[in-house]
Amino acid sequence: MASFEICGGCSLNGEVRIQGSKNAALPMIAACLLARGETKLYNCPHITDVYNMIKILENMGCFADFSGDCLTVDTTGNLSGIISPGDAASMRSSIMLLGAVLGRQKYVSLPWPGGCSIGKRPVDLHLKALEQMNVSVTHHSSGLECWTSCLRGGDISLAMPSVGATENVILAAVLANGTTRLHNAAKEPEVVDLCLFLNEMGARIHGMGTHHITISGVKQLKSVSYTVMSDRIVAGTYFAAAAATGGNILAYPVKEKDLRCVLDVLAVMGCGIIIRKDRIGLIAPPLLLPVESIYTQPFPGFPTDMQSQIMVCLTAARGTSMICENIFEDRFKIVPQLEKMGAKILVHENRAVIRGGCRLKGASVRAEDLRGGAALVIAGLMAEGDTKVEGSGYIERGYENIAKDLDQLGARIRRL
Ligand code: UD1
Repeated sequence: MASFEICGGCSLNGEVRIQGSKNAALPMIAACLLARGETKLYNCPHITDVYNMIKILENMGCFADFSGDCLTVDTTGNLSGIISPGDAASMRSSIMLLGAVLGRQKYVSLPWPGGCSIGKRPVDLHLKALEQMNVSVTHHSSGLECWTSCLRGGDISLAMPSVGATENVILAAVLANGTTRLHNAAKEPEVVDLCLFLNEMGARIHGMGTHHITISGVKQLKSVSYTVMSDRIVAGTYFAAAAATGGNILAYPVKEKDLRCVLDVLAVMGCGIIIRKDRIGLIAPPLLLPVESIYTQPFPGFPTDMQSQIMVCLTAARGTSMICENIFEDRFKIVPQLEKMGAKILVHENRAVIRGGCRLKGASVRAEDLRGGAALVIAGLMAEGDTKVEGSGYIERGYENIAKDLDQLGARIRRL
């Protein structure tokens, strides 16, 4: 399996262009199923999760062509509602296909979705909401079967603002009979971008970006061209890398409002943040400051997807910091890997206390999830000596070209 080899000690400097958002592109690719025709998604990232989603659609009978950053998906023909195991089982976002396929036809069979091992990732909220929309669900040991005589809108309340469940309900509701009022919906920018895309296609969605989304069902949607938003987590990762290495970078395009909470934490750590329209600059201090406490929360709170990267930075801070992970139950998997590099982190339940002041030492470490893998790359950049990060496949699920981007900023990194 491929790995990244990093020679630590270089600070990152310069400008970096941020790729399209994984978490926006994936549900949009599923949404292509809702219009019979050729949809074009610009700024679509070349990452393995996107490739897997494309493969699933192709196996269902769609045609896809990825040229430059433009993904064209042709959904004109008749499609199979049976999604084969293999690719679907390797990614969590395959669950998005439930709402999208049911919006188009009456039946879908889906293997249990896979994804990063960051704890139990149930889909009960997705299924309960779809059942409220007149979908019958049968559970098998290998997966799920869902069918509906006709999707019906209604009042749906999510027990928690799940991003995926919100998107699944929206995908099912756009072509449903009647109006769906979704309460306690997720407010993440990627949910908003999906709604804007669907509205371009002719959907009638209001309230996105708030906890109450209203979707008035329409008869049909049309194929359009749309530009996917940029990836706020990739931007945040590069800011963390610059902060960790005493660097000075400018990332674009990035919207400050999408990354506010992360920028606030970086500012507390002593970083200078410069905001110019769709460009954000970060100037690291000579020595990072600790952060008393960081709590991961749904948007606009601190994103769980940035927790590992910031944890790595805090190993070098001038004092002790605490991170409390409230979204996923098993998201401290990098701690033993960081300990191999000399970090001092104490984990108790969902809290990690990070003792700062460490100079990490290069080591051979293994990524076990996407963001944890990116965090280990940052650890390698900070460390004295050489680091090998194995499990690059996890990282490439979400980062188009992390080695090239970091190399351009002055890192010494190569993919083996
Ligand atoms: C999405 C993102 C992921 C991010 C996460 C939280 C995508 C492709 N992935 O994942 O990068 O880390 O949001 O911001 O957009 N839950 C249930 N039952 C459900 C669904 C979720 O209990 O049916 C729980 C989960 O276990 C978790 C919490 O709700 O504890 C949030 O999960 P959710 O927002 O659904 O995350 P994903 O959509 O899987």
